[in-house]
Amino acid sequence: MESGPQRLPAGPEAAVRAAAVLAGGGLVALPTETVYGLGADATSGAAVASIYALKQRPQFNPLIAHVASLAAAQHEGVFNADALALAQAFWPGPLTLVVPVALKGSVSDLARAGLDSIGLRVPAHPAALAILEAFGKPVAAPSANRSGRISPTTADHVARDLGSGVGLIVDGGPCEIGVESTIVACLDGPPVILRPGGVSRADIERVLGKQIGEPAAEQAENAVLAPGMLPSHYAPRAKVRMNAVAVKPGEAVLDFHGRIGDDDDNAIAYLDLSSGGSLMEAAANLFAFLHRLDASGATTIAVAPVPQEGLGEAINDRLTRAAAPREG
Ligand code: TXA
Ligand code: MG
Repeated sequence: MESGPQRLPAGPEAAVRAAAVLAGGGLVALPTETVYGLGADATSGAAVASIYALKQRPQFNPLIAHVASLAAAQHEGVFNADALALAQAFWPGPLTLVVPVALKGSVSDLARAGLDSIGLRVPAHPAALAILEAFGKPVAAPSANRSGRISPTTADHVARDLGSGVGLIVDGGPCEIGVESTIVACLDGPPVILRPGGVSRADIERVLGKQIGEPAAEQAENAVLAPGMLPSHYAPRAKVRMNAVAVKPGEAVLDFHGRIGDDDDNAIAYLDLSSGGSLMEAAANLFAFLHRLDASGATTIAVAPVPQEGLGEAINDRLTRAAAPREG
């Protein structure tokens, strides 16, 4: 019998079941006060990769890591005075803080899209909090809709849009807020609103005791708002040679599906994104493998062709940026 995803009303049983699905690497649609989120274990690259796959996101936008408390958030990110004041004023609630990632943080590279900052939020919906407490680890959750579609504010929206790809839908009724959280970056400079949302600018300014700016157009385009658009952002130290089919002397190899192979032991270092040819596995491995090959000391990383389908589009987008000529 063809059946949709399992669906449970919010409550203690749903929280326990959701935590089990998350622990198994599965996806849980969960209600928050803003919109329904598509949640996965934020510490697992593979689980996070399946979010991108199900949403059919063309790119690895960084995801918000949801946690149960300010203390849990401070394990993942570094809070300056502004971030602390905002968290204390608005958490739990519809505010996401982008802060520098903590050294001891547990959230996967893929969830952060390889950035050295992290978006953190403590949601106010009791069902979301119950799931986060039962699971005990950060949950990466974008809105539970396919890329380009309208954000879901009921369990029915989620079921219609994402159907059977979700392990469990927790039905907490319609979302109270219905627009996504306000995103405030508290990084080096003055705080900046990256996305208007559930907490008003006026309320944020009242807590901070100062006016806060929109991101400067230049900064928005080049740095924080669109991190994936910065050409050299994902670039390793080594040069990147795309569409390689054989290894040259002095190169490290980033293979896919054994295309280049390492029979002759010619490569300085060799890693296969997915020897079985899984694009989800490849996405989960991508950033970590680039780091490791760069550390091998090779002057060039030869990259095998990756199919331009499904998550391959996002993988190729990142690899192309890594290969792009850079300044300095
Ligand atoms: O209300 C919400 O925020 C909902 C619920 C589910 O919590 N989530 C949500 O997630 O709207 P999403 O993925 O649709 O939007 C997350 C936004 C993206 O625009 C992303 O670029 C930004 O957060 N973001 C996350 N981490 C970031 C970071 N380190 N730097 C800059 N932007 C970041
Ligand atoms: Mg969204």
